[in-house]
Parts: sequence; C-alpha cells; structure tokens
Amino acid sequence: NLSETNSLVGEWLSEIRSMEVQTDRMRFRRNMERVGEIAAYEISKTLEYEDKEVQTPLGIATCRVLKHQPVLATILRAGLALHQGLLHYFDKADHAFISAYRKHNRDGSFEISLEYVSSPSVEDQVLIISDPMLATGSSLVKTIEHLEDLGKPKHIHLVVAIACTVGIEYVLRHSNTPISIWAGDIDDELTAKGYIVPGLGDAGDLAFG
Ligand code: PRP
Repeated sequence: NLSETNSLVGEWLSEIRSMEVQTDRMRFRRNMERVGEIAAYEISKTLEYEDKEVQTPLGIATCRVLKHQPVLATILRAGLALHQGLLHYFDKADHAFISAYRKHNRDGSFEISLEYVSSPSVEDQVLIISDPMLATGSSLVKTIEHLEDLGKPKHIHLVVAIACTVGIEYVLRHSNTPISIWAGDIDDELTAKGYIVPGLGDAGDLAFG
C-alpha cells in the first residue's frame, strides 16, 4: 500500500478521490501519472542491476544500471495515465496494450471482453501491468491469462491506484506467476455491481470523458 506510510501519494489520492477536484481532468490524469512514477521508483528497487563503466569528462565512474528492462502493459483506456507515469521512469521499456471492458448481460452480471491485444513476448520478463482500479479483479486476471499465453513472465507487478481486498485476493489466487501488487490505497467494500466504495468513481470517464 503506497499511502500506508506518510508520503505525497496520500495527498495525490485525496485529490484523485475528491469529487471537487475531479472536475479538473488534467489534474486527475497528472495525479495518476504521479502515482505511476512513485510505483515505478518502488518497483525499481526490486529489479536486477549490473555495473557499467561510464566515461565522465574527468574520469571513469562505475554506475549501477538495470540488467533488463521490464515490459510495461496497461489496460485501455483508464490505465493510460498510470502507464505514462511508469513510462517516465522506465523510458526504455517495451510496451503491451490490452483493451478490456465489462460486457453486461441482461441479468446484471458481466463478463470481461478482451478485444485488442498488442504485446511483445513476455517470456522470462518482468511484467508491470497498470490499471487504476482493481475491483473484482476479473479484468486483470483475464489480461494476465492472455499475456501468459504469449510466454511465461518471470514476475508480475500490478500497479493500481485503488484496490479492494476481494480483488487483491482474487488476483493472487488466480495467477500462475509470482505477483506483487502496488496499490495507491486499499478499500474494503465492493458493491454487488462491482464498484469499489468509497473508491473514486469511474477512472476512465474521469480521465477521458
Ligand atoms: C475499469 C478499470 C478496470 C476495471 C476494474 O475499467 O479501469 O479495468 O474496470 O474492474 P474489475 O477489477 O472488476 O475487472 P472500465 O470497465 O470502467 O473501462 P474504461 O477504462 O474504458 O473506463
């Protein structure tokens, strides 16, 4: 939980969640990016590094650099701002884009429909998937299953702005790959319709209309 200890993430999430501030669409997207940036920095501490000799104007410095770039995946369309934040830090990464949406049935239930998937091979890669909301977890599980069919990742990091406990458990239960979840904040309630309470509302609509 990225806002468990005192940090600016709490401040940004208070704006992301606030109906008053949400009217400023640019601030909403920028705050999402900032959460993505902090998550990128925290995830970077878990990755593998190697020494690299760099010529400076005055001599040679030994620097620690990433051994492998992660693959950044996001779920369209709400994930784009969070993804942009991750991209600010992992600027050399390859990318995957997946569209997932809730296809509602007449009885009020829904299934997740994946209609667009563009991804490099994730075989043996560190895969970072971003999506602002982890509600039931079905979008993420469906996405992970699909990406795993393209190759088995070494590790998956999920970056979400708000997660609910039921969704976290669902994802952890269904993943065949070691997985870490980085959430801006965690809420307890999920309504029968699959909305997180208090949550933040509809992240896709708030970012893009
Ligand atoms: C939201 C969100 C997740 C999904 C979470 O997307 O961005 O993808 O719902 O719900 P789940 O954990 O129950 O699967 P939405 O369907 O609102 O699409 P949008 O990005 O186009 O707004």
